[in-house]
Amino acid sequence: MLRRPTFLQIDPPSRDTLADEADAGLRAPQAWLSPKLFYDALGSRLFDAITELPEYYPTRTEAALMACHGADIAAAVRSALPAAPTLVDLGAGNCTKAAALFDLLRPAHYVAVDISADYLRNTLTCLQREYPELRMSGVGMDFSVRLALPGEVLAHERTGAAPQSALIFYPGSSIGNFDPPEALRLLREARALAPGAALLIGVDLVKPLEVLLPAYDDALGVTAAFNLNVLRRLNALLGADFDLADWQHEARFNAAASRIEMHLAARTEVTVRWRGGERHFRAAETIHTENSYKWTVEGFAALLAEAGFAQRRHWTDERSWFAVFLASG
Ligand code: AVI
Repeated sequence: MLRRPTFLQIDPPSRDTLADEADAGLRAPQAWLSPKLFYDALGSRLFDAITELPEYYPTRTEAALMACHGADIAAAVRSALPAAPTLVDLGAGNCTKAAALFDLLRPAHYVAVDISADYLRNTLTCLQREYPELRMSGVGMDFSVRLALPGEVLAHERTGAAPQSALIFYPGSSIGNFDPPEALRLLREARALAPGAALLIGVDLVKPLEVLLPAYDDALGVTAAFNLNVLRRLNALLGADFDLADWQHEARFNAAASRIEMHLAARTEVTVRWRGGERHFRAAETIHTENSYKWTVEGFAALLAEAGFAQRRHWTDERSWFAVFLASG
């Protein structure tokens, strides 16, 4: 059968919501911005470039782990799930990570979830040609706020029944960009997506600072450009007058919270104006733009348990820099 992917967009974040959030963040005592602002067309390309940097170990470490343990992981998934799974790919992007699992897992249905259904359109249409028999759905939604899929997305095409088996796939250590209470909420919502759902998730681990810091402050300045790009977005979104030359990228490790923090620090005293607001920044005062939590294996296993997953297994590289967890039950 020649299939076509189906697409659904749920509550696209409006320009006003993003603008209101940015306005509130700029007025806060410690100014902050949502990391969502990173990912416009240029920011997404800059992020792709980050994943190729020699300093940015997570992407290649996770890929090596999946390549090395793929057969074992697939066997564990098969024993955790009763039937060919519906594969729900969170933050699917270009879908390559999930597509690498198709031959191993033989899913019954592939559901790619990303912020924009339009962004998924080309990728899924091309992927469908490679896998003409696999049912594919693209869902545009901002699951950083709430992860819930309308029943019809996962339902069986003909019978309308809930899937017998679902694997939620969340690679790339993006769970690290959530504060722990939000990460717990997301894990609980992932578990609730389908009865008996299992979760396959990539998690970045605590490691020496001499490895961590350059990963978020590379010699080429790509991460700096990725961070500074949010100011260009604010200029467009809020009619702000940020001069990028006044700001510099900063990455620090907050040991108490076990997270890398990215900030933009004012190089000199500066006043910024935007539609309906203005703020004076002292020299070296910062705007906090992102957290990237680094977990221990024990800490993340405990979080999965708290989210209700009774069974947990993990695979890690020989330096224990990154872990892939399979959680079920
Ligand atoms: C998307 N996320 C997992 C990245 C990270 O490592 O936290 C985002 C990033 N920020 C700077 N470099 C990469």
